[in-house]
Amino acid sequence: APKAIIAPSILSADFADLGAACSRTIEQGADWLHVDIMDGHFVPNLTFGPPVVAKIRSHVDRPTEGHGKGTFDCHMMIAEPKKWVKEFKAAGCDLYCFHYEAAVNSSAAESPEAHSDLKTSPRELIRYIHQQGMLAGIAIKPATKAEVLYEVLDSADEAERPDMVLVMTVEPGFGGQKFMASELPKVQALRERYPELNIEVDGGLGPGTIDQAADAGANVIVAGSAVFGAQDPAGVIALLREAVDK
Ligand code: DX5
Ligand code: ZN
Repeated sequence: APKAIIAPSILSADFADLGAACSRTIEQGADWLHVDIMDGHFVPNLTFGPPVVAKIRSHVDRPTEGHGKGTFDCHMMIAEPKKWVKEFKAAGCDLYCFHYEAAVNSSAAESPEAHSDLKTSPRELIRYIHQQGMLAGIAIKPATKAEVLYEVLDSADEAERPDMVLVMTVEPGFGGQKFMASELPKVQALRERYPELNIEVDGGLGPGTIDQAADAGANVIVAGSAVFGAQDPAGVIALLREAVDK
């Protein structure tokens, strides 16, 4: 499996001091910053948009290669993911991770076959994100089956294949929720089928839950409250990394 990538979620950082919180977290050993974008529609909460991302970008060195240190991993919890690709690229997003459920009709999460001809297909969106010069990620909520991702992951065309998948381990919308171990079989199935895939988990990750997630095969670890609420964030980041790379 690929090496650990630790991506603290700045949703739990001090918003009044966000630039400093971002640079400090990278100094404390984080690989990426996980930036949660919410539109009050796809999820019942609001966070921030491109101007804030652009401001904090100037506090963190850009990655020198794909997936490198300082990657801005933007988790797009928005109803119209295609609409915002260019703006987030301009703001400094490196990895644009959209929700499968937003890219297709909501009913498609249950029966993907019925909607394979939709105009805004995940494949087209991934291709478009790549064209704009970003890495592409695709996320699934707890109600969505992992099998819906096979179509893009098995694509013969590299431009249509995601660079990462995100398996949500809480209902998206808020930090500090309880980890849902019920989602780990999805991670396990994806890891068995795709040994080299970057598989991200998000929600409720911390010292008490990391071992289960790592054993299932996750390698990209998001942690908000567990990192920003810790006395020793560097220690928590190191612990998460060791659990994945052991
Ligand atoms: C929830 C967000 C998460 C959140 C995780 O919708 O996607 O990234 O910040 O927070 P914790 O780690 O506190 O569960
Ligand atoms: Zn997130």
